[in-house]
Amino acid sequence: DWSMAAYRDEAIAKIREQVGDGRVICGLSGGVDSAVAAVLIHEAIGDQLTCVFVDHGLMRKAEAEEVVGLFRGHYNIPLVHVDAGDTFLSALAGTDDPEVKRKTIGRLFVEVFEEEAKKIGGADFLAQGTLYPDVIESVSFSGGPSVTIKSHHNVGGLPERMNMKLVEPLRELFKDEVRALGKELGLPEAFVGRHPFPGPGLAIRCPGEVTKEKLDILREADAVYLDEIRKGGLYDKIWQAFAVLLPVKTVGVMGDGRTYEYVVALRAVTSVDGMTADFFPYDMNFLGRAATRIINEVRGVNRVVYDVTSKPPGTIEWE
Ligand code: XMP
Repeated sequence: DWSMAAYRDEAIAKIREQVGDGRVICGLSGGVDSAVAAVLIHEAIGDQLTCVFVDHGLMRKAEAEEVVGLFRGHYNIPLVHVDAGDTFLSALAGTDDPEVKRKTIGRLFVEVFEEEAKKIGGADFLAQGTLYPDVIESVSFSGGPSVTIKSHHNVGGLPERMNMKLVEPLRELFKDEVRALGKELGLPEAFVGRHPFPGPGLAIRCPGEVTKEKLDILREADAVYLDEIRKGGLYDKIWQAFAVLLPVKTVGVMGDGRTYEYVVALRAVTSVDGMTADFFPYDMNFLGRAATRIINEVRGVNRVVYDVTSKPPGTIEWE
């Protein structure tokens, strides 16, 4: 795609001009945006860039390993991988309020990131994969209501505290353009085509208190669901799909025994930018297959339901 190639060259020139011989630190989230930003910046300034991946232990199955493998193995980009799962889990213990969960994760994320940034001697710039929709969403429309539905993950306050300037090379792009740019930069197709994943991770897909047991069940159920979606050739037709582990146990029957286990809700939506969304109209046979596989393959789950709420009035995530 010649236009993306041109965009890439222009963006690289801009980054070089902004950064000069300064040092840049980039937080990887595991998602597409921060990965594309990091690879682009690495093309521009090489090892003036260090990436920090704060692994909160709330990623999907095998996701952390994939990111680390991609950066260290494929690109040879210096990467600090901080395994902070236990820190996040203990901070979340006893918390079931969605906003408190989000804020706890956001605050800890910044703390851990700042500590690591100091360890590597700080930097002049902080790189972020901010997209155009993130830029508009954070602007409140004059005269209109300003209501926070959900506190989003960001590194609020950190650039000032550490005296860093921001580098945001994706600020003019929409999601599909970021994917095209990612491909242009040689990121694997399967990686750039990934569904969006929220900063607070699986914690907001476990309504109620988050525990290691629940996260493990959710990770397995989500992996089976996504595998079934890929097998059905549906992954690219859906904007975002995931499993949610409900904090409810129900009675079931397996063989000639009674079971009393968790309920998994499946979510899938179509959308352009995540601001509005429609539930995905699966074929019932698909849903039946996915449910059977999840119940057979995931210990701790005996019932599966499908979420048929669009946005609005629902949000895409459950918390
Ligand atoms: P909602 O649930 O608000 O989600 O309809 C809209 C889109 O945003 C994602 N999302 C987040 N992304 N940090 C993110 O980077 C967050 O804190 C966050 N919360 C929700 C969500 O997955 C969906 O794609």
